[in-house]
Amino acid sequence: MENDLSMLSPAAAQFLAADHGMLIGGEFVAAESGDTFPVVDPTSGKEIAFVAKGEQRDVDAAVKAARKAFDSGPWPIMKPSSRARVLLKLADLLEQHATEIADIESVNSGRTVPNTRAFDVDLSVDYLRYMAGWATKIHGETYTPSVPYVPDTDFFSYTLREPVGVVGAITPWNVPLCQAIWKIAPVLATGCTMVLKPAEQTPLTVIRFSELLNEAGVPPGVVNIVTGMGHSAGAALVEHPDVNKISFTGSTEIGQIIAAKSGESLKHCTLELGGKSAMLVFPDADAEITIQGTAMAIFGNHGQNCCAGSRLYVHKDRFDEIVAGIVDFAKGIKLGPALSPDTEMGPLVSKVQQKRVLGYIDSGVEEGAELLVGGRKVTQSGCYVEPTVLGNVTDDMKVVQEEIFGPVLVVTPFDDLDDAVEKANMTKYGLGASIWTKDISTVHRLVPRLQAGTVWVNTHNVLDLAVPFGGVKSSGIGRELGEEAIRHHTDLKTVTMAL
Ligand code: NAI
Ligand code: MG
Repeated sequence: MENDLSMLSPAAAQFLAADHGMLIGGEFVAAESGDTFPVVDPTSGKEIAFVAKGEQRDVDAAVKAARKAFDSGPWPIMKPSSRARVLLKLADLLEQHATEIADIESVNSGRTVPNTRAFDVDLSVDYLRYMAGWATKIHGETYTPSVPYVPDTDFFSYTLREPVGVVGAITPWNVPLCQAIWKIAPVLATGCTMVLKPAEQTPLTVIRFSELLNEAGVPPGVVNIVTGMGHSAGAALVEHPDVNKISFTGSTEIGQIIAAKSGESLKHCTLELGGKSAMLVFPDADAEITIQGTAMAIFGNHGQNCCAGSRLYVHKDRFDEIVAGIVDFAKGIKLGPALSPDTEMGPLVSKVQQKRVLGYIDSGVEEGAELLVGGRKVTQSGCYVEPTVLGNVTDDMKVVQEEIFGPVLVVTPFDDLDDAVEKANMTKYGLGASIWTKDISTVHRLVPRLQAGTVWVNTHNVLDLAVPFGGVKSSGIGRELGEEAIRHHTDLKTVTMAL
């Protein structure tokens, strides 16, 4: 159940064998302290690389570089079409290194190569190209003010949409490069500059990507990467007075701290946080589509998705049939090392996550839940957790209320539409929800009543780069992707003139 590292592409193997600095002001540098930290392959628990352990001093240097690149560099004032060309070049370069980067990500995050290729590489290439298109389409509006208290003068007003400045971005480990590109692409399109701190568990593909920035023509200091821990490097970035906006994806717990800190200095703040998304299956739902779709909603990416469908509510008339189908699906998933071609699900990202997820499963069983399938850790050294379904759960259980962020589904029957709505809305989270039915009136009655940033119908977890994504309640503030990402990286300047 360990990776056969001889299967790595030569370029990936070469990258893993090298030392990795941080990108600050266009140069790769060690941490000022000289410290490094290990990166681990979760199939074996073995160390595979060492990266610089950046701290406050390094964050300071990176913010200084980003500030200089924004305040006096060419990037914010460059012609939009030139910025677009740089984004397109970056996309081409990433595409050219697709095999290498997917391999590195699979070894580092434990996810299969087709998974990292599709979501970390291909989707990132697409987003860079999508955002290249936006660079030339950012614009303000014109107004004809009446100003009734100055009757004898005509006025004209317009708005400019300007970059917010230096963005501090902090990303998680579940889809590491994709999460980083969701932050980097809109920064580049809008003419902002940035300091990015990737998750300490999975910094490698962000570092590899950062090596492509100079070649693509991104000027020094526009994108700076500081690797390090959340409580030191991450916190220093959030508290830095020269940062204008924080863009964070991660846990609700840390999101709340970041929102409070950002508030002290009134930074812009976009937060993509946790979820406990409900899936509601109605009596007329198509069995095959529903079983396959809901099972993948929780087991896809090992359940390590903020919008994973982690709570299943099925109308009581279909409950046994749908749950039996999902349990069978779970039994059929082939666990194995990320690099093996026949693996369908690899390990979780780390020992910490494995312990956390198994702890949740144990707590559910202790509180009276029934283990319908899964629940075991599979190997001693790797971070595997079997796809798991818990039945006989009650609303107050931790496994029902809290984000587990692993392949663990809780299942409960419901009586009618009102009951389904009440159950769907009863956690603190509000990221996603899905409705499984062929009845269009059920869909339209439900959509306005669900507390969620995204509602899916007969599908789940489907994100598109053009479609805004984000949460309500404790799942976050603001939206990423689409035009919303441009709005969240720009400020309006209003100009009013007397004619
Ligand atoms: P986390 O929220 O602690 O880490 C996410 C990022 O924030 C990492 O880059 C980390 O270094 C940074 N960070 C941590 N503390 C910070 C601080 N005080 N100031 C600034 N940055 C800080 O998430 P963690 O501990 O890796 O995972 C714990 C749980 O969080 C997971 O089990 C899952 O439930 C949830 N989570 C949700 C994610 C999502 O996409 N919504 C992603 C990752 C985790
Ligand atoms: Mg944490």
